[in-house]
Amino acid sequence: MSIQWFPGHMHKARKEIAKVISQIDVVIEVLDARLPQSSENPLVQELRGQKPVIKVLNKSDLADAGRTRKWLKYLTTDSTHAMALRMDQKQELQQLVALCKKTAPGRVTADRPVRVMIMGIPNVGKSTLINALMGRKIAKVGNEPAVTKSQQRFVSHNGLAVFDTPGILWPKIKDVDASYRLAASGAIRDTVVEYEDIALYSLAFLIRDYPQLLQQRFKLAQLPASADEALDEIGRRRGCLKSGGVINRTKAGEIVIGDLRSGLIGRLSFETVGEWVEKQRLAAEQLADEERQVEQFAADKQREEQQYIDQRDEQKRQQWLHSIDPQADDGEPTDR
Ligand code: G4P
Repeated sequence: MSIQWFPGHMHKARKEIAKVISQIDVVIEVLDARLPQSSENPLVQELRGQKPVIKVLNKSDLADAGRTRKWLKYLTTDSTHAMALRMDQKQELQQLVALCKKTAPGRVTADRPVRVMIMGIPNVGKSTLINALMGRKIAKVGNEPAVTKSQQRFVSHNGLAVFDTPGILWPKIKDVDASYRLAASGAIRDTVVEYEDIALYSLAFLIRDYPQLLQQRFKLAQLPASADEALDEIGRRRGCLKSGGVINRTKAGEIVIGDLRSGLIGRLSFETVGEWVEKQRLAAEQLADEERQVEQFAADKQREEQQYIDQRDEQKRQQWLHSIDPQADDGEPTDR
């Protein structure tokens, strides 16, 4: 699946964020709790520099609670806070406000609002969070990614001052899995992806990780042997048929994706800490391997060059010997 971003938009967003970051006390990076790695953009780290960050695993009502707990433990470090959030939980929002204040105690002591910027990829809930923190409708909520407005201003409430427009960063597609997971969660616009493809990826994932949820939702007596079989069965059961009784797999795919995005299949997480740690280990191994190959190539090249120089010197020596003693051919200088 190939995905095209608009480099102009990304560049603009990056410039806008860089312009205002010096006025910020705390960055809230909103991630999708179902895919904490794929919904992360490394630019946040680059743009925030030394500013404290709170990683919010949002939509935790849709995610697998056990997996989310492990992610929170993994993401929390000395300089990074992490918390799970679901927007309809007032108490969790209050915890987030308290955490922002704890992260910038100087502002609280000075009786000034803590200045917050909310960043993240499209559709993770940034606008919803701004509105929830400010207790009124400030940012537009919807699942179509948009570009950051050029004019931003702080809005204050409850001891926080939040930019009225979130910093939107496009996802950095790390691998094929990431692109499918982003599409399944709705972060990638529907127009650039095929429902059938995303559904097949998602069904393979459900068969592997959440077979019971899949069977329950679509009332499947048996666990399908493959994603293809599952899509056909769901199409048949839901009456997605074209003329001649052929299964309309696009329609069946739309049903699977719709149910998955809205949580009707159940709470699930595409990504686990274990998988991510293993991916990182493999990536580090691959990098070390590539570095070894580059070093080997450089060493081979140097040896080849040395051989060439030695051969050339030997040829010159032979020519010189021949010029002073045309009979000599053993390479040893003759006594004259
Ligand atoms: P964005 O600014 O990051 O692009 O995201 P936005 O706030 O527009 O939210 C995208 C969608 O995610 C919205 O649904 C919003 O309601 C939903 N959402 C936000 N937070 C949560 C959460 O904690 N749990 C769940 N389940 N959903 C959440 P929408 O269908 O696009 O819009 P609407 O119908 O809610 O207006």
